[in-house]
Amino acid sequence: MTTSHPVPAAEDLPNGHPWWRDAVVYQVYVRSFADSDGDGIGDLPGLYRRLPVVARLGVDAIWLNPIYPSPQADAGYDVADYCDVDPLFGTLADARAVVERAHQLGLRVIMDVVPNHTSDQHPWFLAARAAAPDSRERQRYFFRQGQGDHGELPPNNWQSVFGGSAWSRLPDGWWYLHLFAPEQPDLNWADPGVPDAFTRILRFWLDLGVDGFRVDVAHGLAKDPLLPDLDETQRPLSGQHPYWDRDEVHDIYRHWRKILDEYPGQRTAVLEAWVTGGDRLGRYLRGDELHTAFNFAFLQAAWNAKDMRAVIEHTLEGLAWIGAPATWVLSNHDVVRHPTRYGGGQLGQQRARAAALLMLALPGGAYIYQGEELGLEEVTDLPDHLRQDPAFARSGGKQVGRDGCRVPLPWSGERPPYGFGPPGSHPWLPQPAAWATRSVEAQERQPDSMLALYRAALAARRAAGLGDGPLSWLDTPEGMLAFRRTPSLACAVNFTDEPLALPLVLVDQPVLLTSSGHPDAGWLPPNSATWYGTAP
Ligand code: NOJ
Repeated sequence: MTTSHPVPAAEDLPNGHPWWRDAVVYQVYVRSFADSDGDGIGDLPGLYRRLPVVARLGVDAIWLNPIYPSPQADAGYDVADYCDVDPLFGTLADARAVVERAHQLGLRVIMDVVPNHTSDQHPWFLAARAAAPDSRERQRYFFRQGQGDHGELPPNNWQSVFGGSAWSRLPDGWWYLHLFAPEQPDLNWADPGVPDAFTRILRFWLDLGVDGFRVDVAHGLAKDPLLPDLDETQRPLSGQHPYWDRDEVHDIYRHWRKILDEYPGQRTAVLEAWVTGGDRLGRYLRGDELHTAFNFAFLQAAWNAKDMRAVIEHTLEGLAWIGAPATWVLSNHDVVRHPTRYGGGQLGQQRARAAALLMLALPGGAYIYQGEELGLEEVTDLPDHLRQDPAFARSGGKQVGRDGCRVPLPWSGERPPYGFGPPGSHPWLPQPAAWATRSVEAQERQPDSMLALYRAALAARRAAGLGDGPLSWLDTPEGMLAFRRTPSLACAVNFTDEPLALPLVLVDQPVLLTSSGHPDAGWLPPNSATWYGTAP
C-alpha cells in the first residue's frame, strides 16, 4: 500500500509554510540502492521501481548523490558533464521519470551539485591541459609553476582531503590544484565563465523539475587568489582561511538564491559546509542566501546527554539570529554508520533507535541515509582489493575510507544480492551474510524492527506537526535529556546504561512511541527514547 500525498504547489502549502524548513529527506546513494540491470551497480530504473517503498517510509523528499557522467574516480563526485546522466545509472529520460514518479508519490527531489571541482575528464579540463600556460582555458582552474630550482616542488603546502599534496604536476611541468583526488581539479570561481556555467547547470535541472540541490563542498569554492601557504595555526573560522569558508563564497550563494527564487514551488538548497562554531554556518543561511545546511556537529557528537544537549543548544542558538531551521543528520555516505559509531552490536542498535526518535523530535528538518531505517551497520571487513574510495589508496591504507557505509541495500531474500539486483548478480561491494535478517522484506514481518520504528516515528511526526517550532527543556536526572515540542508532545532520551527515573511531569503521560519496547511506568530504560503525548 502506498501513502500518496502528491507534492502540493507552493501556494497550497498550509499558511505558505516553506516545505524545506522541516522536511525529512531520504538520501539515495544511487549506486547502492537498487540495481535493475544486474551489473552490480544501482541505477535510476531500480530507484524508480522502489520509490513507493521510500514514499511508504513517510519522508518528504529524496536527495540523489551524483548521477552525472563521470569516470567515477570519487563515486561520481568527479563530474564530466553536469547536464546528463552516466550510462551506469541510466539516461536523462530515466532521471525525468524518477522526478515525475517521485512527485506523484508526494516526494520532492534534490540533486547533488558539485561546483568545487570537475572531473579531470571534463571537456574544460581536457582543453586546459592542452592549452598554453596563460590561456583562457587554464583560467578556469588553478595552474601554477612549482617551487624549487626546477619547479619540482608543489606551489604551496596545501594538502588534499584524501591525503598527499593538493597539487599534481602535468608533463609540461605545470601544477594544478585539487583539494580532493587528482582526478578532481578545483575550479576557479573568480573566472566569470565558471559562475555562468553553473547558472546554466542549475537552470537545466530546475527546468527538468527538480526541487532543489545539495551543494557539495559549499564552503570551499572561494580561494585566496594568492594561494598562500596554509598556516596550520589559523582557524577556519576567521573568513581568511586560504580555501575554507572564505567570505567571498557568499556572493555565489546570493546569486544562486535569485535563480532558485525565479522558479515556482519553493526550490531549495542544502549546503554541505563543514564549518562549525560561532555564527559561521548561519551566514550561509541569511535571508538572501541559501536555505539549509547539514548540521554535522550533531553527527559528530558522542553518545552522552551532556554533549548532545550542548550540540542541540548551540545549533538552535547559532541559527536563531538568522531565523533558519536546523537540519539534523546522523549518517551519510562519508561517515561510519551511526549504529557502529554508537558501539555496534545490540548496544549500537538500541542507541540508534533512540537517536532516531531524538532526531525526528528536534525542531527543523532531518536527513535519513539509506539503510539507516534498516539499522545497517558499517561493513568493516571489506577486502582491501575491493575498496574503491580514493581516500584508501591515496593514504596508503591509513584511512580505511568510506566504502563500509556504501554497501548495497538488502531488500529481500536469504542470500546476496538480497534483491538489490537480479538473482545471481554481484553487487559492487559484497553484502554481509547477517543482512538476511536486515532486509526490508524481513523487517516488514517484524513489528518491532528498525524499519517499523522509523515508519511509526515519521507518521507520528507528521500527525503531530513536529518540525519547525520551539523546544523547551524539562528538568531531568543526569544522563537524560527531555524536552517538550508541542503542548501535547515530549521526548525523553536516556543516554546511560541504567534505567533512569522520569521527570514527574512525564510520569503519567501516555506513551506515543518508544524505542525500547519495554516502557516501565515512571522509568526510562537504558539507551532508549520515548515520545510522550497523544497524536492529534
Ligand atoms: C563531499 C562528498 O560528500 C564526498 O563524498 C566527496 O568525496 C567530496 N565532497 C568531494 O566531492
